[in-house]
Amino acid sequence: MNRPFPIRDVTEGAARILVPDVPRHRGPGKAGPWPFYNPTMAVNRDISAIVLARWPRPIRSALDGLAATGAWGIRMALEAHVTGLTFNDRSSMAADLVRENLRRNRVDAPVVVGDLATHLSSASYEFVDIDPFGPPSPFLAAAFGSDKSAYGLGITATDTAVLSGTYPDACERRYDARPFRCPQGPEIGLRILLGYCARLAVERGSTIRPVLSFAAEHFLRIFLRVRKGRKSPPLGHVVRRRPGEFVPVASSAADAIGPLWTGPMHDPAIVRSLVASSWSLPSTARLLATLQAEADLPAYFVSTDELAAEARGSPPRVERFLDGLRSEGYRAARTHFHPRGIRTDAPYDDLLRVFLDRMPTGSRDGSTPAS
Ligand SMILES: C[S@@+](CC[C@H](N)C(=O)[O-])C[C@H]1O[C@@H](n2cnc3c(N)ncnc32)[C@H](O)[C@@H]1O
Repeated sequence: MNRPFPIRDVTEGAARILVPDVPRHRGPGKAGPWPFYNPTMAVNRDISAIVLARWPRPIRSALDGLAATGAWGIRMALEAHVTGLTFNDRSSMAADLVRENLRRNRVDAPVVVGDLATHLSSASYEFVDIDPFGPPSPFLAAAFGSDKSAYGLGITATDTAVLSGTYPDACERRYDARPFRCPQGPEIGLRILLGYCARLAVERGSTIRPVLSFAAEHFLRIFLRVRKGRKSPPLGHVVRRRPGEFVPVASSAADAIGPLWTGPMHDPAIVRSLVASSWSLPSTARLLATLQAEADLPAYFVSTDELAAEARGSPPRVERFLDGLRSEGYRAARTHFHPRGIRTDAPYDDLLRVFLDRMPTGSRDGSTPAS
């Protein structure tokens, strides 16, 4: 086949795919002239295959909505045994490459060339994956317009800096929500994205139930179950009171962050059932284990950096802090959001006391942080 770009063969998961052989930088991808493939997103596709393999009901029709090389959908067919796949991309060059990759992997599926939102206005699937350059917002109204009574969505956002608080005005324009720049910014960003989806669903007579939500590399990712039915979603605003402590406030309050999804970000039973496969990267297996440990702990983590800055001293090792909390009967685990972040059900004052207690001897300047 004559192609206007050089090609290379890549093995990712169970798939062997051809991708354009062009230089790539780390971080979020930008639209370019050739079909897009980002190796750093393998962790995203790994987790998708793991989650779809344990989806609560068999998926009989699925759309790889922004397919590029077809890597996502081909892996879902081979690793999660998803059937009834369709691939869509508005680039005919991408569609040609998807067809070739389907043949190479012996996956039989139609490839549609066109705009995703337009396609979703006339076709419905039991699962739709949306993995855009930047924000998913242009596709979400169409994604929640499905006429199915129940379906699933996988949504990636690579406008992480917008959702996590670096560009608050852009976040208000895109998601109609106020973010907050702080170590918990990515968790707040996920709650903004979930809240935005919940509001779109309600407008269309549906409700959402998050299955798994996480941040990795340069992206945020959510998996949702959507059902027809009217039920008020758990939405609200918060303000930051102390490091890692966010308290509910009215939307009119000064510095209110939100609206945020205030309910669980995961379905703990499904998350507990997930197992890394022999195709998963070691980093994916580690991410999954951390997600499983924190999935049913309360909202908002705290980092030892923040607590140490408040106490004007050196932080204890994270494991020592966790042991201290557990020895008092509290649940506590690392969070995947931050290398020195922990999530616990300990009340804030107890958390602080255990932290101060476990700080290295002589590392404090003698002052006591406000409690
Ligand atoms: C980030 S890439 C998708 C990567 C792919 N999901 C993967 O796992 O490798 C985004 C793709 O969306 C396509 N695209 C952008 N806007 C679109 C639209 N409005 N409708 C359909 N496809 C679109 C681009 O051509 C590009 O191939």
